[in-house]
Amino acid sequence: MKVLVVGSGGREHAIIKKLKENKNITEIFALPGNAGMQEDATLVNIGAKEIEKIADFAAQNDIDYAVVAPDDPLVLGCVDALEQKGIACFGPNKAAAIIEGSKVFSKNLMKKYNIPTAEYEVFTNAESATKYLQTAPIPTVIKADGLALGKGVIIAETREDAIKAVKSIMQDKQFGASGDSIVIEEFLTGPEVSVLAFTDGETVVPMVSSMDHKRAGDNDTGLNTGGMGTIAPNPYYTDAVAKECMETIFLPTINAMNSENRTFKGCLYFGLMLTAKGPKVIEYNCRFGDPETQVVLPLLKSDLLTVMQATTFGTLKDTKVEFSDSNACCVIMASKGYPEHYEKGYEITIPNNIKNNVYVAGAALNNGKVVTAGGRVLGCTAVADTLQDAITKAYELVGNVHFENAYYRNDIGAKALKANTKA
Ligand code: AMP
Ligand code: GLY
Repeated sequence: MKVLVVGSGGREHAIIKKLKENKNITEIFALPGNAGMQEDATLVNIGAKEIEKIADFAAQNDIDYAVVAPDDPLVLGCVDALEQKGIACFGPNKAAAIIEGSKVFSKNLMKKYNIPTAEYEVFTNAESATKYLQTAPIPTVIKADGLALGKGVIIAETREDAIKAVKSIMQDKQFGASGDSIVIEEFLTGPEVSVLAFTDGETVVPMVSSMDHKRAGDNDTGLNTGGMGTIAPNPYYTDAVAKECMETIFLPTINAMNSENRTFKGCLYFGLMLTAKGPKVIEYNCRFGDPETQVVLPLLKSDLLTVMQATTFGTLKDTKVEFSDSNACCVIMASKGYPEHYEKGYEITIPNNIKNNVYVAGAALNNGKVVTAGGRVLGCTAVADTLQDAITKAYELVGNVHFENAYYRNDIGAKALKANTKA
């Protein structure tokens, strides 16, 4: 069986490594992948947003199944293009991917179907947004409507900062057309939990919960990043919270999408905040999270391809999806300076005996050597019986991977450990 995976990051590397456990898969193509994955997949030099080329490649190479992992191709309709060529896919079609592609859509969906989320207003021009901000409660949260490389959310601590954010999004077009509309919403507080869920549009199967660490520096300081590390399971996500989320958020969301004729299939990511008034949705993503996938999939005991195909063919209800009771920790090693300016081109060395625990995100080939090529370079994941051991082992892995100017947080999992001791 030939499988194609669209995307190039650590998440895609984790998906590819997990798929490889299925012995029926004879070849995996990564479009475009990165040089750090070349031992696990055949790299194809087609960009993740080149939808037509991806579909043509799949048809010409007799691909049996395609996994579309990143937000951009999903929102652009990559699954629709592949399906038109008769290729079965993992991931939502364009109509359903709008749940991530438009924050205005997702907020209005939650309001219409009574799914708990922050109070909000939508604005399509800067004047009315600025006027609203004169009296809005502060801090407040400003979100560009469309995709913005994970940077479209601004938490404003003062009225002046809020007004500045509106100007840069709506007038200076910091995120291009993604900022034609904005959402201004209530600032919520509480522990954050990421829950990825498999769904075929009828059945929802949440995966093990996880916790991201978004800020660049220790103790959640510094700029927001794509994610500096993750742990799973998330200790704040108790069985009682899980039950409440299933009843008030997960099933209502799947049903709401069906009612809107936008049946969602694939992985739906629920970014949740556990507020004093119960769990609320901070964001939906139409895909696996990065770097959540790097801790969630290593804990999946079932065959990933079988589960993915069950979401495609509507048989999830009859498919076993099992996770181990272990803990996982992923520490991201980035290039010093990320998420701002950083240098590339340093050789990466990963000892052979730990390659299975390393998911490469930003690497290229230079004279036959694998070198750094991105802000987030790779993630080291360890699995252990306890969270403490998973953290210790993940940092041991980090100590064995080398490239110049490597930067990583030293406190991945520390908050979760504290929560564990309180429980
Ligand atoms: P995102 O860029 O969409 O991943 O969001 C970045 C982060 O902004 C989230 O992980 C939350 O920590 C924070 N955030 C988003 N919306 C809110 C909100 N309404 N209240 C408080 N924090 C928020
Ligand atoms: N880790 C957050 C995301 O994938 O959007």
